[in-house]
Amino acid sequence: MSFMMSMNPSPSSPPPPLSSPSESSSTPSTLPVRTIPGSYGWPLLGPISDRLDYFWFQGPDTFFRKRVEKYKSTVFRTNIPPTFPFFSVNPNIVAVLDCKSFSHLFDMEIVEKKNVLVGDFMPSVNYTGDIRVGAYLDTSEPQHAKVKNFAMDVLKQSSKIWVGELTSNLSTMWDTIEKDVSEKSSSSYLAPLQKFLFNFLVKCLIGADPSNSPKIAESGYIMLDRWLAFQLLPTIKIGILQPLEELFIHSFAYPFFLVSGDYNNLSSFVEEYGKEIVARGETEFGLSKQEAIHNLLFILGFNAFGGFSIFLPSLLGTVASDTTDLQQRLVKEVRQNGGSTLTFDSIKEMPLVQSVVYETLRLNPPVPLQFARARKDFRLSSHDAAFEVKKGELLCGFQSLVMRDPKIFSEPESFIGDRFMKDKGLLDYLYWSNGPQTGVPSVTNKQCAGKDIVTLTACLILAYTFRRYDSISGSSSSITALKKA
Ligand code: HEM
Repeated sequence: MSFMMSMNPSPSSPPPPLSSPSESSSTPSTLPVRTIPGSYGWPLLGPISDRLDYFWFQGPDTFFRKRVEKYKSTVFRTNIPPTFPFFSVNPNIVAVLDCKSFSHLFDMEIVEKKNVLVGDFMPSVNYTGDIRVGAYLDTSEPQHAKVKNFAMDVLKQSSKIWVGELTSNLSTMWDTIEKDVSEKSSSSYLAPLQKFLFNFLVKCLIGADPSNSPKIAESGYIMLDRWLAFQLLPTIKIGILQPLEELFIHSFAYPFFLVSGDYNNLSSFVEEYGKEIVARGETEFGLSKQEAIHNLLFILGFNAFGGFSIFLPSLLGTVASDTTDLQQRLVKEVRQNGGSTLTFDSIKEMPLVQSVVYETLRLNPPVPLQFARARKDFRLSSHDAAFEVKKGELLCGFQSLVMRDPKIFSEPESFIGDRFMKDKGLLDYLYWSNGPQTGVPSVTNKQCAGKDIVTLTACLILAYTFRRYDSISGSSSSITALKKA
């Protein structure tokens, strides 16, 4: 899969968890050993109070920042929702909020990732065809290797049509947005973006044309949105009027039957029109037919569609609202370099485009929370102290803070478009994919199988966009002006 690696300056294994550019004198042996600060509070009251802070009074970002200040440590104990009264989950976590402590989450010798995709809470397996799909499997479970290999094979096979499908569907998306802007002087682009993503990803990952089924073509993307929302609502801050959000969104898990119609339509579509890929899952990767179908649908809907639906608005919003000369520099680069037709190789000649994509992922990591459970007792290090972690404790990293670690990133709160052009070594500390950007997803780790195709796709989208437009204005939800090339 050489194209997948093309953006890595030096594809290599993840750096060891305890190394960092700033670490000259603070080796593990010299770090002072400290008791993990913070507490879980009184039973029931502690978790409830932390939950209200997290969702209501502070929000996730302030929640973590305030506790870093309070404990003067990037490693501390706290609770994380969902909690009491209707969840039987253990909300106790050890937060790891700097690059060095966070990187322990990638070391599969010391942590396990069984059922912790979104924390101790796990949506019912009804949402995934009564199967624990790959993202919930630990590397020690033999099924993980089968599913991960299957996912990587799906990407490899689709690489032949990826760029063609991407650009043709992207062209339709921009046609719609352009029409809207000319008629209404503003286009709220989330629906056209999700339609584009759905069509493009179904063709590439399922090998099927959504128009085979009018129902799926018309509202497949909305079905996925509902399916994603109902399984994840207990863990996400929506921002609607409180206390309504706490009472109705965060107090119980939503039953699957609310979206079973949608899910069954989607899985029947995969079974009927994705026959070839499902069969490959069975014959080449040893999955049962049901395992192949539901894993494929999870990869399509949760990993790919869900991930891009968060990432692309932040990417478009970042460049469309930029007030420096970034757009002119991008226009120049994508028109001068990369040949007349865009290919994966074109991106190699577009270092600014790559850097902008990386910097957006740094400041707005699409999947901000990562969890892992201690496989055994071990000593965890932050930049300035070491802590004893006990087997079974749940570690929780909040990337939005980790990616602003001032010991690694200078001016950490600022968007610096060419940051990763100036210092490629920083890619060792870009963690959006549950592993460093210089890491390699494999069956022995839990790094995103789509790590390279995600960044390449985002680069291609920027390159396409700035070959088509001289400038775009807008935000992460709407486009207000477009100047055609
Ligand atoms: C912007 C888009 C994407 C983002 C932000 C994203 C992010 C992530 C993250 C953070 C994880 C690790 C979750 C955890 O264990 O804590 C993950 C896992 C995974 N991702 Fe992605 N992903 C994206 C797109 C994709 C795509 C296009 C694929 C297509 C194959 C994919 C396949 C996977 C798979 C199979 C896993 C599970 C890996 C394992 O179990 O070892 N992802 N992704």
